[in-house]
Parts: sequence; structure tokens; C-alpha cells
Amino acid sequence: MEKIGRTKIVDVLKREDFGTIVNVKGWVRTRRGSKQVNFIALNDGSTINNVQVVVDLANFDEDMLKDITTGACLSVNGELTESVGSGQKAEIQAREIEILGACDNTYPLQKKGHTLEFLREIAHLRPRTNTFGAVFRIRHNMAMAIHTFFHQKGFVYFHTPIITASDCEGAGQMFQVTTKNLYDLKRDEAGSIIYDDDFFGKQASLTVSGQLEGELAATALGAIYTFGPTFRAENSNTPRHLAEFWMIEPEVAFNDITDNMDLAEEFIKFCVQWALDNCADDVKFLNDMFDKGLIERLQSILKESFVRLAYTEGIKVLEEAVAKGHKFEFPVYWGVDLASEHERYLVEEHFKRPVILTDYPKEIKAFYMKQNEDGKTVRAMDVLFPKIGEIIGGSEREADYDKLINRINEMHIPMKDMWWYLDTRRFGTCPHSGFGLGFERLLLFVTGMANIRDVIPFPRTPRNAEF
Ligand code: 4AD
Ligand code: MG
Repeated sequence: MEKIGRTKIVDVLKREDFGTIVNVKGWVRTRRGSKQVNFIALNDGSTINNVQVVVDLANFDEDMLKDITTGACLSVNGELTESVGSGQKAEIQAREIEILGACDNTYPLQKKGHTLEFLREIAHLRPRTNTFGAVFRIRHNMAMAIHTFFHQKGFVYFHTPIITASDCEGAGQMFQVTTKNLYDLKRDEAGSIIYDDDFFGKQASLTVSGQLEGELAATALGAIYTFGPTFRAENSNTPRHLAEFWMIEPEVAFNDITDNMDLAEEFIKFCVQWALDNCADDVKFLNDMFDKGLIERLQSILKESFVRLAYTEGIKVLEEAVAKGHKFEFPVYWGVDLASEHERYLVEEHFKRPVILTDYPKEIKAFYMKQNEDGKTVRAMDVLFPKIGEIIGGSEREADYDKLINRINEMHIPMKDMWWYLDTRRFGTCPHSGFGLGFERLLLFVTGMANIRDVIPFPRTPRNAEF
């Protein structure tokens, strides 16, 4: 076969220099046609769209033609021609075809219309479907949006450790990291495991958040963000929880809670606008296939300003709903950690736009949040989104050394592990704020997918670590 430089299908479909000989490589999505002429839909992942390859059967070897089956990988040289029937501007009249990889009939993606549940069981192949091609291209584009947003604002991308000895959220949901022989653990007299001879000389885990180290950086570099994997051993099998997810955590010196809310709102809107501008084909596909309200929802988020409401006011709204007969599965009262049904009621039914809920009871929030004068609440903020519930969690941080120590004591957090964090409050402390955006929660919103397992390539959930 003549060697011609490969053109990606996304570029081929834009070209109008009909008559040129081009080369494309990709995987067969479908093959149909008559005894004389066949039409192959070829996809190379560069776009949701396929290029149509027209094959005049008389010009090709029969044995080779037999191997052009769904899933096979081809290299095609052919003439770029104007298309009438393929739904695209250009198609390719095949001159030479090479089978790079045949594909037998056990290939599970023969037919269209597999359920998302089934596709999860073949997560190693699902990127070859239209749906997951679209989702993973959008995922990439959202990562670019995030880096672009913060870079343009002068934030420093700061890498926080994945292995850590501190539990930032204090929720005890950490996966341990050890090289110890689990069948032969040394224990002290009280029965506690001795970690002195473990790899790090102490108990270590996978991080649940880069925030504490992010604060070290923000109080030096001014404004930073992290973007990395986080791990939570929470045994919650929901469509919104993963054991391994990616989080973006900006942290900014001198920002108060209002600045923090402004940043969060601007940030999410930037990402949504980016998706509409840069992923139009993929978003439209998902809109048409799964969620007819997707594009409208994305556009409407951009137009509205988010509601900003204190937790106490939010509880009143929910209590009024209950009084009027609305049924929630979980009870509503001041002090409760809101369930997703409560969050979604506020967003979807009451305000009908995103809500930033602030000033939560201190008992349900982490130790590092700035304490309000009322002695009961902390300067927390959760951003609540339609269909998702909590998409961002953040706060202004307690900058006062003594108040922070008090809270650490109240919550029985082992002080000896916190000395380095406390140093920020001893050496030139300053007001500062930050938040964490769950990357996959953002992707749920932008793709319209309903299950978080379908927006990360290889989901990690309770009892599932395949692939
Ligand atoms: O609210 P969270 O627990 O906040 C923190 O970790 C703070 N340290 C962040 C900060 O202030 N720098 O988590 C932040 C976000 C949540 O709002 C949610 O979007 C996402 O992380 N998240 C999860 N996403 C998927 N699966 C899980 N198990 C998640 N847990 C939290
Ligand atoms: Mg939270």
C-alpha cells in the first residue's frame, strides 16, 4: 500500500479539496451496502462523527473484504469526494485498504443500543462507543478549561501529596498505605498496631483532599490550585460517589467567604461556557441521546446568578415544604447534614437555579472552617446544582491560632500530626479561603450523564476495581 501521511477524521470531514488522495486510519463502526458497493463508517476517536468510506467491491480482493467487520482496524487510501448521502460534507472513495487488525464476531460492540450498565462491564472497550468517546473528549476539554481558567488568573498549579499521614476532612474514610505483612502485624500492649517499622515509620494513607498542603502554598504563593486524584473509602453506593475521584482545590490568601463564592461561581460558569464552545458536537450528541434538556440547562446556568443563602434560611425553606406536605425520605431539622434530596429540592423545586448554602452548623463541618461570632456556625459554603446536589464544598479558613487549637481539641484531632499546619497560623497568619470541586460531579453536569461511573474511564467503587 502506498505510504501517505495520515489525516485525522475530524480534519478530513472539514476539507473541501475534493479529488485529493488522503489516508485515514480507524475502527469500523458499521458496514452496509449491496453486492456492488459497500459503505463503511470509520471512526478514529478524533470526533464523534464517522467518515464514510465507499468501497467498489469489484476493485478489491475478496479475502481482504471478508475481514472488514465491525470493530476491525483499517488503513484506507482514497480520494476525497463530496458526499451526498453520508450526512457529512466529505467522504472517501477507497483506492487501497489495509486491515491493520481484524476483529472476530465475539466483539461485544456489534450492535448499537447497549445499556450503560452493560458497557460498564466492558469498560476496557466502551471508549469505542459514541457515548463514551463523547464523554471522554469532554472530560479532556474540561481539564483544559480548568487549567486555563486558573492560569489566566495567575494561580500556581501546586502538586500536593497523594500519600499522607493527615486526615483533612476528619471523616475517617482513608485507605491505608502500608508495606507491612498484614498476616503478621506487631501490636503494642494495648493491641494497637505498631507502625514504627512500616515504610513511612507511621500510619499513612491515600489523601482525601490536598487542602491542608494547599493552604501552606496559598500562604506563600498567594493563589494556588490543585488538580489531582483523591480517595475516599466511604461505603456509599450512590450515582454520585466514587472511591477514587479527581478534585480541583483552589486556595487564595486574603479572600473572604464572599470572594470565595464569587470565584466558585465564575469558575463553574467558565467551564460550562468552555464546554459549549469547544465540545459542541459531543454535547449535542449527549443532549439528543440521553438528556434532551442538557444544552438548555447549560445555557441557563450561564445566565443566572447563583442564589446565596444561609443554611439556617435553607432549613426554613425545607421545613415550610414539609409543612405543606412535601415528603422527604430523611428528616429536616436545624443541625442536620443535608441529604441530596434536600439539596435538590432547594435547587430544582424551590429556587430553580444553583444555590450556594453558607454558614453551616459547626458540628457537621471540618475543623479548619472559620468560626462565626454566633458560636454555632462556621463560614462554610456548599454549591448545590440541579440533578447533582453538592458540586463544590469550601469555606473561609480559621486564621486565628487559638480558635483553631480550640476546635482541634474539641474534635479530638491528634495535635502532634498538625504542627506543620498550625505553623501557618503562627507565622504571619492571614485570612484565606478555598474550595474543592469534584471533577466527576462537574462532568455529570456538563455531560448530562446520570451515574458518576459513566464519566470516569475506570470507576472505583465498593467491590469494584476491575480493569
Ligand atoms: O466537600 P468536600 O469533602 O470538601 C473537601 O474535601 C475540602 N477539603 C475542599 C476544600 O475546601 N479545598 O469535597 C469537595 C467536593 C464535593 O463537593 C464533591 O463535589 C466532591 O468533592 N466529592 C466527591 N466526588 C465523587 N465521589 C466522592 N466520594 C466525593 N466526595 C466528595
Ligand atoms: Mg462536602
